[in-house]
Amino acid sequence: MKILLLHGPNLSQLGGRDPEHYGTMTLDELVAVATEEAASAGAEVEHAAFESEGDLIGRLHAAGSDDTSAVVVNPGALTHYSYALRDAIDVLDVPCVEVHLSNVHAREDFRHRSVIAPACAGSIAGFGPLGYRLAVRAAVGLARA
Ligand code: DQA
Repeated sequence: MKILLLHGPNLSQLGGRDPEHYGTMTLDELVAVATEEAASAGAEVEHAAFESEGDLIGRLHAAGSDDTSAVVVNPGALTHYSYALRDAIDVLDVPCVEVHLSNVHAREDFRHRSVIAPACAGSIAGFGPLGYRLAVRAAVGLARA
């Protein structure tokens, strides 16, 4: 079973970016955590990170015709305003889990709203790298249901 793990803009900068909110793990290290969790559930992770909205949406479209069983996505700031991303998740015929490192609800007002949440099976925020483990577990469970 393949879980497609996707990241949006600026998450490639993890490690040095705003460690108070995002911790010090690099994106590669975070992907390793998700991959390890997936392996323990008998699944594998394919990862891709995109700085642009269009490229992220393009990868989601491609997931409709590859062997993706479920998607885990941290869209970064696109979370809060990208109706195009939400529509692309709506089109998916596999479950999608939203994940954020930081507790977006405890931060600036503009981060309180996720426009993609209604298109996702569920959302996880505020648990740092543990959230990725939870998101992968949820994705595998949904894909097997
Ligand atoms: C984030 C939260 C977003 O508000 C922010 O724009 C990010 C990271 C998180 O993982 O906590 O880029 O998605």
